[in-house]
Amino acid sequence: MKSIKEETNLNNKKILLRLDLNVPLLGDKIIDTTRIDKILPTLKFLISQNAKIIIISHVGRPKGKVINELSLKPICKDLEIKLSQNIKLISKNFKEIVSKDLFNSEDEKIVMLENIRFYPEEEKNDQQFAKLLATLGDIYVNDAFSCSHRAHASIHEITNFLPSYSGLQINLEVNALKKITSEIKKPITCIIGGSKVSSKINIIKNLIPKFDNIIIVGGMANNIIKYMGNNIGKSLHEENSNLIIEEIFALSKEQNCKIIYSKGVVVA
Ligand code: 3PG
Repeated sequence: MKSIKEETNLNNKKILLRLDLNVPLLGDKIIDTTRIDKILPTLKFLISQNAKIIIISHVGRPKGKVINELSLKPICKDLEIKLSQNIKLISKNFKEIVSKDLFNSEDEKIVMLENIRFYPEEEKNDQQFAKLLATLGDIYVNDAFSCSHRAHASIHEITNFLPSYSGLQINLEVNALKKITSEIKKPITCIIGGSKVSSKINIIKNLIPKFDNIIIVGGMANNIIKYMGNNIGKSLHEENSNLIIEEIFALSKEQNCKIIYSKGVVVA
C-alpha cells in the first residue's frame, strides 16, 4: 500500500479513514485513550491538507447487532476535545445516506460512522456492503494496524472499490516491525502481551527462531501460569490453551529460545 503522505492532492477529498478506536470502556468512560492519542497525527495531517474525513471504527464485539453500550459516542467526544473541533457522529444506518449529505457545511471537516460492527456484513467481508461504504468517499486510508489481520469489509473488501493508502500509524508500525524482521540485531528479546494466546500462536512460532528470549506478559501469561499448576483466580485466560502452550515450549526448546513468564503469583 502506498502511504497517504505520497498523495499530493487531498484538497476537499473525502477520506474514508479506518481507525482502530477499540479502547477499553467502563460505561461511557474511556479507561485508556492511547489508541485515540496515537491517531491524532494522522487526523491533523489530513486536516492540514484540507481533506474531509469520514472515520470508520469498531469498538468491542457487538456481533452485527446495535448495542448501545458499544457506541462510539464517548470516543467521538474525546476526539472532539483533543482536536478542538466538532465531529458529527452518524448513528443513522449509513446505507440510507448519500455521500453529499455527510457534510452539511464547508466548516464541517470530520464525521464518524457509528460502530461498524453493528452491521453483520462487516465481519463477513461482504462485497456489496464494502461497495456501498466506498460510495461515501473518494479515497480509502487504513490506519488501523491492530485490525489489519481481520478480513473484514471496512479493512479488506473496501480496497477493491477505492484508491487505497496506508496511514501514518501503519507506516510507523511497519518500520518498527522491520527491526525484528529484516533489520534484526542479536542478541534480542521480545516482550509480547495481549489477551488471546490462540490469536498470537502463529506470531510466537514465527518469532521463536529469531529471538533469544521471549517474555510473555498480560492476559496471555495467565494461561502459562495456570498451565504450570498455579491458581489464577478469576484472571483473564483462555480455555483449552494447553496444547498451544506445549507447542510453544517444544519449539522454543528446539530453537534455543528462552520463554520467560512470572514464576510467582499472588491471587487476591
Ligand atoms: C484489537 O483490539 O485487537 C483490535 O481492535 C481488533 O479487535 P478484535 O480482536 O475484536 O478483532
